[in-house]
Amino acid sequence: MSGMSLPLIFIIFILISLCTKTALGFPSGTGADNIQCMEREKQALLTFKKGLIDEYNHLSSWGINEDCCQWRGVRCSNRTGHVLGLNLQVTNTIDPYQPDYMPLRGNISSSLLELQYLNYLDLSLNDFEFKQLPDYIGSLKNLRHLNLSYDGFSGKVPYQLGNLSKLQSLDLNSNYQMYADKLEWLSHLSSLRQLRLTLIKVEHAFDWLQVVSELRSLTDLQLGSCGLPSVISAPISLVNSSKTLIQLDLSFNSLPNSSIFPWLSNLGSSLVDLDLFGNRLQGPIPDYAFSNMTSLLHLDLGYNPIVGPLKSFGNLCSLKTLSLNTNNLIGQLPQLFSYLSGCSKHTLETLVLNDSFLSGSLPDFTLFSSLRELQLQNNNLNGSFPKSFGHLSNLTILDLDDNNLSGSIPDLSVFVSLKELRIRDNLLNGTLPKKSRKAFKA
Ligand SMILES: *[C@@H]1O[C@H](CO)[C@@H](O)[C@H](O)[C@H]1NC(C)=O
Ligand SMILES: *[C@@H]1O[C@H](CO)[C@@H](O)[C@H](O)[C@H]1NC(C)=O
Ligand SMILES: *[C@@H]1O[C@H](CO)[C@@H](O)[C@H](O)[C@H]1NC(C)=O
Ligand SMILES: *[C@@H]1O[C@H](CO)[C@@H](O)[C@H](O)[C@H]1NC(C)=O
Ligand SMILES: *[C@@H]1O[C@H](CO)[C@@H](O)[C@H](O)[C@H]1NC(C)=O
Ligand SMILES: *[C@@H]1O[C@H](CO)[C@@H](O)[C@H](O)[C@H]1NC(C)=O
Ligand SMILES: *[C@@H]1O[C@H](CO)[C@@H](O)[C@H](O)[C@H]1NC(C)=O
Ligand SMILES: *[C@@H]1O[C@H](CO)[C@@H](O)[C@H](O)[C@H]1NC(C)=O
Ligand SMILES: *[C@@H]1O[C@H](CO)[C@@H](O)[C@H](O)[C@H]1NC(C)=O
Ligand SMILES: *[C@@H]1O[C@H](CO)[C@@H](O)[C@H](O)[C@H]1NC(C)=O
Ligand SMILES: *[C@@H]1O[C@H](CO)[C@@H](O)[C@H](O)[C@H]1NC(C)=O
Ligand SMILES: *[C@@H]1O[C@H](CO)[C@@H](O)[C@H](O)[C@H]1NC(C)=O
Repeated sequence: MSGMSLPLIFIIFILISLCTKTALGFPSGTGADNIQCMEREKQALLTFKKGLIDEYNHLSSWGINEDCCQWRGVRCSNRTGHVLGLNLQVTNTIDPYQPDYMPLRGNISSSLLELQYLNYLDLSLNDFEFKQLPDYIGSLKNLRHLNLSYDGFSGKVPYQLGNLSKLQSLDLNSNYQMYADKLEWLSHLSSLRQLRLTLIKVEHAFDWLQVVSELRSLTDLQLGSCGLPSVISAPISLVNSSKTLIQLDLSFNSLPNSSIFPWLSNLGSSLVDLDLFGNRLQGPIPDYAFSNMTSLLHLDLGYNPIVGPLKSFGNLCSLKTLSLNTNNLIGQLPQLFSYLSGCSKHTLETLVLNDSFLSGSLPDFTLFSSLRELQLQNNNLNGSFPKSFGHLSNLTILDLDDNNLSGSIPDLSVFVSLKELRIRDNLLNGTLPKKSRKAFKA
């Protein structure tokens, strides 16, 4: 796979995940009849609206009702009437070719600064047509949640955002024409729990690891396709490094092995989702790397030049998904299975081992009692199917295409849930059970 096509896959993935979204703003209003919005704040909102281009009349309620707390996307305090939240995520898709792509366009007026109590601002999924994100967003000092993802901003991330000391979540995902030279400004945001900068270029932010490792509340960090530099400014001190991360996405960054394993291993048991797809992690992976990640459910190590063996999976007692496709594992599949058949034997549901130079024969994978999907496409497996299978009722997808398996096609009737079987380009003989032949691709 070429370097060019990796980001494309990533974008497609984003598209797919967006298609499943449904929520549209929060209901407007204070919930109390007698409290009305402030005149000053109402005027500020009307000025803000003037700066926007609202082709699809999302803001038609703005100005009709006297009480701006009743306007779409506006949330006020039911005690004081001050505007607390603004949610102008008005469309559900980032795909301009979808009929339901109906973003707001235009400018973000500085009149927002009049909304002194604003703690929630979501302008995600609009189209600011590669304008610069204005610096004054960093003066909305009560903001706790700022979501400007998929907004088409460009230019430097305003470091003034580092003044938003109450910020708990900052989402700038997918503003792929934005960049930041350094991330030091983030270090003032000690309440930050969610930080999403996917596709923002930070090639020169040599301080990234130092900064994120010291954010004491961070649980969700997304830095996919950021061009994270492989050289880091200094070895980080793990003494004060936080251990709060639950979700970590560092996919598509070409990170080399040396820079992150000590830090990752120190994250320990908080981590649940770890995505390292598309890096340059070279093996063998040190035994300590994943040994403390006892809560890990999903681990993606696909598209790395990792060399087996991988012994460090011993304590992954919750693991449901393991992707190791397109590595240089160059080992015996039975050995890999024996490493995995410790703790994760009863939890693994999806095992993706495509294109990884695995050889040896097909072990009895029915040891993995929860397995739903087993991808072994394009390896060097030979020998025949195991003589007997145990009970593996949940197996839905079994992909063995492009191997050297021989002998006859086994009786697959023990796999009552099997929907997809791929055994193309092997040396198998015999016939498939007639009844369900349609589902099989041999
Ligand atoms: C005001 O809002 C709070 C929290 O949103 C809610 O618990 C409370 O019942 C509301 N009070 C009134 C008078 O609507
Ligand atoms: C947005 O700002 C630009 C530059 O200041 C201006 O030319 C344009 O008219 C503004 N758009 C709207 C809708 O106000
Ligand atoms: C920001 O908005 C996007 C798109 O609406 C959404 O998918 C994402 O979850 C939001 N981010 C946060 C941190 O809630
Ligand atoms: C806001 O941030 C900028 C840039 O980081 C800084 O120069 C400025 O002093 C900060 N302002 C306040 C009020 O903290
Ligand atoms: C850890 O943090 C404490 C308190 O902030 C500080 O005094 C100490 O020097 C830090 N240690 C290291 C190794 O950075
Ligand atoms: C990373 O990989 C390179 C090349 O294989 C190797 O020389 C180096 O020792 C590795 N570093 C670590 C920390 O494993
Ligand atoms: C794993 O956790 C134990 C106990 O918390 C700790 O002593 C050990 O240093 C950790 N190992 C690594 C590699 O972080
Ligand atoms: C593994 O190969 C199968 C068959 O080509 C494919 O459907 C699947 O997407 C591949 N998995 C990965 C993670 O590349
Ligand atoms: C198969 O899936 C069902 C439903 O998801 C689950 O309850 C059951 O425990 C699974 N069977 C095994 C052997 O894991
Ligand atoms: C299959 O086996 C043949 C002969 O043993 C060998 O030449 C070929 O490279 C093998 N193919 C794969 C995909 O391992
Ligand atoms: C599988 O391939 C290996 C060499 O890669 C060979 O030594 C072994 O005999 C083969 N096994 C079968 C059953 O063909
Ligand atoms: C399949 O091939 C094996 C030898 O590789 C042979 O013993 C067996 O009879 C063949 N079975 C069928 C159904 O052709």
